[in-house]
Amino acid sequence: MVERYFQTTPIYYVNDRPHLGTAYSMIVSDALCRWHRLLGDDVYFLTGTDEHGLKLARTAAEAGKSPQDWVDESSVWFRRAWASLGISNDDFIRTTEERHVKSVDKFVQAIYDNGYIYKGDYAGWYCVSCENYYVEADLLEGHRCPIHERPVEWLTEENYFFALSRLTDELLAFYASHPQAVVPETRRNEALGLIRQGLEDFSVSRTSFDWGIPVPWDPEHVFYVWFEALMNYTSAVGYGEDQERFEKWWPATHHLIGKDIVKFHCVWWPAMCIAAGIDPAPTVIAHGFLLVGGKKMSKSQTNQVDPVELAGEVGLDPLRYHLLRDVVLGLDGEFTYEGLVARYNADLANNLGNLLQRVSTLVVSKCGGSGPAPSGATPLREAVTEVVATVRRSWAGYRPHEALEATWTLIGTANAALEATEPWKLDPGPEVDAILGDAVEVLRIVAILASPAMPGSSVEIWRRLGITGAPDEPGIAAPGAGLEWGAYDGKLTLARESPLFPRRQLDAEEE
Ligand code: MSP
Repeated sequence: MVERYFQTTPIYYVNDRPHLGTAYSMIVSDALCRWHRLLGDDVYFLTGTDEHGLKLARTAAEAGKSPQDWVDESSVWFRRAWASLGISNDDFIRTTEERHVKSVDKFVQAIYDNGYIYKGDYAGWYCVSCENYYVEADLLEGHRCPIHERPVEWLTEENYFFALSRLTDELLAFYASHPQAVVPETRRNEALGLIRQGLEDFSVSRTSFDWGIPVPWDPEHVFYVWFEALMNYTSAVGYGEDQERFEKWWPATHHLIGKDIVKFHCVWWPAMCIAAGIDPAPTVIAHGFLLVGGKKMSKSQTNQVDPVELAGEVGLDPLRYHLLRDVVLGLDGEFTYEGLVARYNADLANNLGNLLQRVSTLVVSKCGGSGPAPSGATPLREAVTEVVATVRRSWAGYRPHEALEATWTLIGTANAALEATEPWKLDPGPEVDAILGDAVEVLRIVAILASPAMPGSSVEIWRRLGITGAPDEPGIAAPGAGLEWGAYDGKLTLARESPLFPRRQLDAEEE
């Protein structure tokens, strides 16, 4: 049966440019989708940009632009960056698009009609220059604004509130019946901790600025940006507009998020879904941060790495491979250029590149350039069976690093088999053919397994092996299909070409 797989990413604020930290989310989501396409699943991959709110209106004003002009221009940075990084998203939603606004109207109306939105007074410390409320803890001594250093005022405003506190039992029941709703477990515990410590209703509308979606029944108010941004996940698949499409994709949903937005996705969002009368998304995967010098890569730290520039320098696939292989999904990962080069040299130049180079050279010199068929029962065949099983489990458990680690073990085993049998010392004949046929078969399978991380290189490996078709053909990893030993039956022409991954040197080594 064809499974449905709906993958989302956070939608990015367009007051910041894409950087390697945000690109990390995209690459992980992309790899998950590519794996599911290999399995033959029906995949829908959504990303987009978060374009409303006070912060955005301010950024636009500082740049001397209208908010609409600003978001139109800056949303394109994201589209372009993701296209350059080989991201295979099916959709890109912008919260200023009409389809989002219309769907949000329906979603909030459902919550309102179900009695979970009410009008109340919001009181807090307000900075007129910021047009923003502050909690006591953020203020400077003497109740002064942390930005303007001027005294703030105690202000009371009429707002709409979401009755989060009334959904505590429903949330606890949802988590009790969905043990895998948040991975890793630490983030699930964090969400449960927040729920158990007592939930407070929160204000979902603002009257102090107008760059937002108007509240349908009271257009003097616009919605608080987080409240409507979360609904991008349902608007993109037709909530309130196209019921059939909505039911196709919801709730086959997998939200990939950063660990800083767990509260919004694992407490607020499921509660909002329950309040609207739909099932919450069954899976949230929370990743850690990419750090530079121990600090989160971000605009305020001015430690951002441009992912497109970096990919241009070291190659897109090596960058994707490094992030997926070296950052354990769920944990923080320190990014260093040295770490990237070390991983490239060890795994790509030496291990995979070496196997490909050796095999193509030997097939040309010992088999007249025609790849022999793999042999029957060999230790390599057993290794493939074991690794394929591990890779399947690893992706299913959201552990890309483990899937790649297993794949590279297989490459290592194939290289070791060549060293043990030394076909370069043997005369052409059936023994050499068997050894090289097995090695080509391993490379064919490795290219499929590596394709979620390195789509371009996998295609190139198949081209060099002379195999027609593509290693990332939909359904190629379905049971009984292309990951079976022996799907390659030989007689294809291999060419000897320059190394696919030439060794890299660090700048310091070049001097
Ligand atoms: N707009 C909200 C999300 C709304 S989703 C309905 C937002 N945007 S953001 O642009 O600030 O962040 C988007 C995502 O990027 C978050 O998941 C955040 O964790 C992630 N990252 C930002 N910097 C990061 C790193 N340095 N490393 C890894 N991820 C990082 O929050």
